[in-house]
Amino acid sequence: MKTVWVGTSWKMNKTLAEAQAFCQQLQQHLPCVPETIQPFIIPPFTCVREVSQILAGSRCLTGVQNMHYADQGAFTGEISPPMVQECGARLVELGHSERRAYFAESDLTIQKKVQAALCHALRPLVCVGDSAQERAWGVSQETVLRQMKIALSGVTAQQVLQVIIAYEPIWAIGEGGEPATPAEAQQIHAALRSALCEQYGAEIAQQVVLLYGGSVNADNLQSLIQQQDIDGVFVGRAAWQPAGYCQLLTLAGH
Ligand code: PGA
Repeated sequence: MKTVWVGTSWKMNKTLAEAQAFCQQLQQHLPCVPETIQPFIIPPFTCVREVSQILAGSRCLTGVQNMHYADQGAFTGEISPPMVQECGARLVELGHSERRAYFAESDLTIQKKVQAALCHALRPLVCVGDSAQERAWGVSQETVLRQMKIALSGVTAQQVLQVIIAYEPIWAIGEGGEPATPAEAQQIHAALRSALCEQYGAEIAQQVVLLYGGSVNADNLQSLIQQQDIDGVFVGRAAWQPAGYCQLLTLAGH
């Protein structure tokens, strides 16, 4: 049975008190979550340390939503890989479309951050996604393959096993987003898998974790994770309340 990843990024939501309350409820539910489910939470920087401490010893991993690639330096407002490590996070989300759109994050910057994460034993979770316009032009696959290939440039076969790729179509994310159908998501995931296969061989490619994100909810989670090349889901709104996230963890185990 495959491991199914079910995680959430809180984006710019939750104060420390709200984060702690969430984790307390989650902790009570975690013992009921089957071993085949891999939960993860990506809080804002201000509460990563506390969330990691509360969840230490549980199976739930934590991560950060961004990271600079340099170890230190004059980069006002940024957070370095050693700082991320120190606060207990194991995952580093990189290249979410909101960061690409609002903070001018480029494929090249993401590539440098992937390298930096791997050098510091952090697992990069790289988001790739097509816009509504790119979808209408019929270049969704080209778009996400380009993003993934640039992010993985210089990543060895051993290292790629640490990388997680999340396909997050921009048109599916957030309020007003329309979730990809399971078949549509599977088609893109199959293209990503096959590009991984070309680059790293089938055995390695099969083990790379490929997630889907964008308006995942309790109604569509199961049909998404049943797809051959979808190894889990990366959820926003539907997982921001503890009851919602716990429900998704339960559904993923059935
Ligand atoms: P959503 O967000 O589930 O609220 O659509 C997904 C994401 O941005 O990862």
